[in-house]
Amino acid sequence: MTVIELKNNKFQKLYPINLGVNEIGHLTISGFDTAELVKKYGTPLYVIDEATFGYNADEYLNSLKKYYSNFLVLYAAKAFACKKIFRLANEIGLGLDVVSGGELYTAIKSDFNLKNIYFHGNNKSQEEIQLAVKNNVGRIVCDNFYELELLQKIAKNENKVLEILIRLTPGIECHTHEYIKTGHLDSKFGFDLEYLDEVLNLITKDSKNLLLKGFHSHIGSQIFEIEPFSDSVEILLDQFQYVKEKYKIELAELNIGGGIGISYTKEDDPIPIDEWAKVTTNTIKQKCKKLDLNLPKLICEPGRSLIAPSGITIYKVGSIKQVPNGRKFVSVDGGMADNPRPITYQAKYTAVVANKMNSKELENVTIAGRYCETGDILIKDIELPKIIHGDLITVFGTGAYNYSMSSNYNLVSRPACILVNNGKSEIIIERETYDDLILKQK
Ligand SMILES: Cc1ncc(COP(=O)(O)O)c(C=O)c1O
Repeated sequence: MTVIELKNNKFQKLYPINLGVNEIGHLTISGFDTAELVKKYGTPLYVIDEATFGYNADEYLNSLKKYYSNFLVLYAAKAFACKKIFRLANEIGLGLDVVSGGELYTAIKSDFNLKNIYFHGNNKSQEEIQLAVKNNVGRIVCDNFYELELLQKIAKNENKVLEILIRLTPGIECHTHEYIKTGHLDSKFGFDLEYLDEVLNLITKDSKNLLLKGFHSHIGSQIFEIEPFSDSVEILLDQFQYVKEKYKIELAELNIGGGIGISYTKEDDPIPIDEWAKVTTNTIKQKCKKLDLNLPKLICEPGRSLIAPSGITIYKVGSIKQVPNGRKFVSVDGGMADNPRPITYQAKYTAVVANKMNSKELENVTIAGRYCETGDILIKDIELPKIIHGDLITVFGTGAYNYSMSSNYNLVSRPACILVNNGKSEIIIERETYDDLILKQK
């Protein structure tokens, strides 16, 4: 019989930093009673704690500042793309990694500093590239030969010089607890290293309109080891040296992607950001010295580790089913459409009963979603206080890849998203209505 412990371990960011329990045993976030937030905004409800987002961003900025002078941290928009979060990221001094015309358009409408935008993607359309070029976004990260041709054509037509990075696949594949290095990666993203000469020949032939600034690689997501990042840095810097020697071009930017893991459960053991920054920048300094290269500008693009721990989702319990001699299914009013990660890749989450934080009598339940898929299970087998209809289940770590991956499956409207900070709560994305669901239907 344990009471749920809400404190983060030193490097575990399982919970938002402003989490608490009030005198009536309710979970609070940034001073707000979650039950009161539910009364005001309804359920399911995404809640983002602004202070946690700022805290995580500061961790990146301050630790990199300690070890390296020339860097830019991009927020990977795909984790959670909306105007308010883009405005916060811009104010904090982060750049932005976008992967679609939609994310770029949202950034433009958020008055994002366009010079700090890096445009990624393995199949950008001509229209999307034109939108980026017309708005003078900072960099386009070229992924493949088709795109290289498009870029040359568009740059020529617009009479502009495009500053580009080339995305390389360094042959490192990361999973949560293991990684492999191979000469060749079976990935849809980026150029294989053996095509480097072909790429360089195409770019240098048309150097009037394309300016190669550096290389990019992103080796995976939810990574719990530092070594793959260092290996990736070494491989990319080897290519810097190759290009310097053979093409007499000294590249200025090294973009090492995102991917640092976070805790979704207490079993997860993420890398301390400071340690990652120290080791990665040391590798850059040593390797550049060895290869006689100038220190490049370091760019990284975390998404999950910036925004996931800032977010919680509050659901209301509806039906409860006890299978004879089997599981107890507690169904909530959301599920796979607002959080597709469990059904997509068996992602694990932690939850509490927000209105019963001091309850000591626990039972094993499975939290089921409301959608018409047997696999729509948010958390399998979790110890929670005895639950009845109307209780509030709060799931942690839902700030990333939840709203941004959400759908209207079963024609259920998307939840509202609110931002809380310093005694203020505001809607940043309205709850969808039934009319929203049929808005585009004829
Ligand atoms: C190119 C690129 N950069 C950055 C990210 C962000 O990764 P994460 O959210 O794991 O930090 C991704 C995620 O897929 C990515 O593909």
